Amino acid sequence: MRKDSPPPSAAVGRLYSCFDTKPLVAALLALTLVMLLWNLPPYYQNLLFTTRPLAPCSSSSSSAAVTSQVADERKYSSASASASVSASTADDPNKRVFSSYGIAAALFVQMGAYRGGPATFAVVGLASKPTHVFGKPWYKCEWVSNNGSSVRAKAYKMLPDWGYGRVYTVVVVNCTFSSNPNADNSGGKLNLFAYYGESQRRYEKFTVLEEAPGSYDESKYLPPYQYDYLYCGSSLYGNVSESRIREWMAYHAWFFGPRSHFVFHDAGGVSPEVRSALDPWVRAGRATVQDIRGQAEFDGYYHNQFLVVNDCLHRYRLAANWTFFFDVDEYIYLPDGSSLESVLKEFSNYTQFTIEQNPMSSSLCINDSSQDYPKQWGFEKLLFRDSRTGIRRDRKYAIQAKNAFATGVHMSENVVGGALHKTETKIRYYHYHNSITVAGELCRDLVPLSAKKKVTWRDKRPFVYDDSMKKLAPTIKEFERRTLGTW
Ligand SMILES: *[C@@H]1O[C@H](CO)[C@@H](O)[C@H](O)[C@H]1NC(C)=O
Ligand SMILES: *[C@@H]1O[C@H](CO)[C@@H](O)[C@H](O)[C@H]1NC(C)=O
Ligand SMILES: *[C@@H]1O[C@H](CO)[C@@H](O)[C@H](O)[C@H]1NC(C)=O
Ligand SMILES: *[C@@H]1O[C@H](CO)[C@@H](O)[C@H](O)[C@H]1NC(C)=O
Ligand SMILES: *[C@@H]1O[C@H](CO)[C@@H](O)[C@H](O)[C@H]1NC(C)=O
Ligand SMILES: *[C@@H]1O[C@H](CO)[C@@H](O)[C@H](O)[C@H]1NC(C)=O
Repeated sequence: MRKDSPPPSAAVGRLYSCFDTKPLVAALLALTLVMLLWNLPPYYQNLLFTTRPLAPCSSSSSSAAVTSQVADERKYSSASASASVSASTADDPNKRVFSSYGIAAALFVQMGAYRGGPATFAVVGLASKPTHVFGKPWYKCEWVSNNGSSVRAKAYKMLPDWGYGRVYTVVVVNCTFSSNPNADNSGGKLNLFAYYGESQRRYEKFTVLEEAPGSYDESKYLPPYQYDYLYCGSSLYGNVSESRIREWMAYHAWFFGPRSHFVFHDAGGVSPEVRSALDPWVRAGRATVQDIRGQAEFDGYYHNQFLVVNDCLHRYRLAANWTFFFDVDEYIYLPDGSSLESVLKEFSNYTQFTIEQNPMSSSLCINDSSQDYPKQWGFEKLLFRDSRTGIRRDRKYAIQAKNAFATGVHMSENVVGGALHKTETKIRYYHYHNSITVAGELCRDLVPLSAKKKVTWRDKRPFVYDDSMKKLAPTIKEFERRTLGTW
């Protein structure tokens, strides 16, 4: 599983003799050194560049600095390899041996790798968190063309999970080449070099992406995009109610319109019943369900939701004008009656905007015998809103993904362009916290009709009646009937 890179001793060794070689050889060596430097992590580059300017035969002390640096490393690695059998260890009863067995966390776990434009790629995965917190692992990218040439690119990494990771942390590696490495469309593959630490000598190299000959299509990376709006859902897990999913999907398919698409991530929450609620939309081309149950092997934050949203961001980065991140117990709503398109046009100078919530009770309903609650949809009967204002609450967000390089759950920090937060009069979301996992009837706390006109207190929270969503219910149900022709 592990492997060491061949020591770069050939190139460095020859530096020693470069004092008595011909200028042509010196030029070749200069080139080799440039190649070597290109491959070194920033730490080594600083070391070298502060020693002297780049000219191979100008000073003996400086080439010695390069050589001894590498020589020390070799000494170290050969010493550690033979430590347990060395005579001095056996002779010294106080010399303790540290024996290691197994590997506790992988160096890198790839979930996806995506082209993000003519010359740029993103690799999304998990990596051992202590390795990144206490060490300095780094990455390098290489494109190997089917035409036989290869080119390398600097890579930079982002750790977008705000330190929430556990055994694993989320890593997004950005590989940006100086130009399209597959410009001739002969196809090829992207290799990632993942280093264990600062040293350039221990790494894993693997192919993360391949492009078939002729498959590169420039137009895919330029507007207009396939969709106006894309929904990236985070990991679905636990007992998810199929009714709530059905209602959520119908509402948002209506809300976002025909040029939208919904991506769900099944971390165990998509039971056969939930699946059959989503299937008609999958068949209609409106939704995609990704099976990510394999993520359970890797202990990250909450069913690896940071991993999932970053994968979705990059997988669909240039598929839509706007990408939305929120949950399946949340319903986006436009309070002032404008169209979504006009609201987003107003926001178009911002890379992202956040959305304030209307927190709703998930159990309060009016005690009204004229209502057949078991037959009603969740947002049709849960009509009590927590009326406290000025409280800091979670926000959800949408982003112009083309300007984002990595993303979080509540907003993104790796973007170009500004963020807009003052959006509450234009766009909000109704949040039916915990309603998604309730099996059976939601209306579990009936209050008299008079509660419509006053404040109802529950758990020290004041609730007021708000039937804005209920008013949309007939439209949504009719839309679902027309679109799916079923139910
Ligand atoms: C191979 O393709 C790359 C990128 O498309 C191009 O720059 C390079 O010149 C090609 N090499 C050969 C040998 O055709
Ligand atoms: C999406 O972006 C394209 C191109 O930038 C623009 O013409 C179109 O109006 C946008 N669509 C929406 C719904 O904003
Ligand atoms: C899901 O529901 C079943 C039965 O209703 C229950 O036994 C189980 O513990 C629940 N699982 C979770 C993760 O809540
Ligand atoms: C966006 O910015 C441009 C240039 O600053 C400005 O002309 C335009 O009016 C802005 N659009 C909106 C919707 O604010
Ligand atoms: C609901 O109202 C009916 C009659 O209007 C009453 O009998 C019943 O006790 C009420 N239920 C609750 C839970 O308040
Ligand atoms: C990688 O980073 C560069 C510069 O920060 C950016 O222009 C590019 O869009 C990023 N690529 C991806 C796929 O995120």
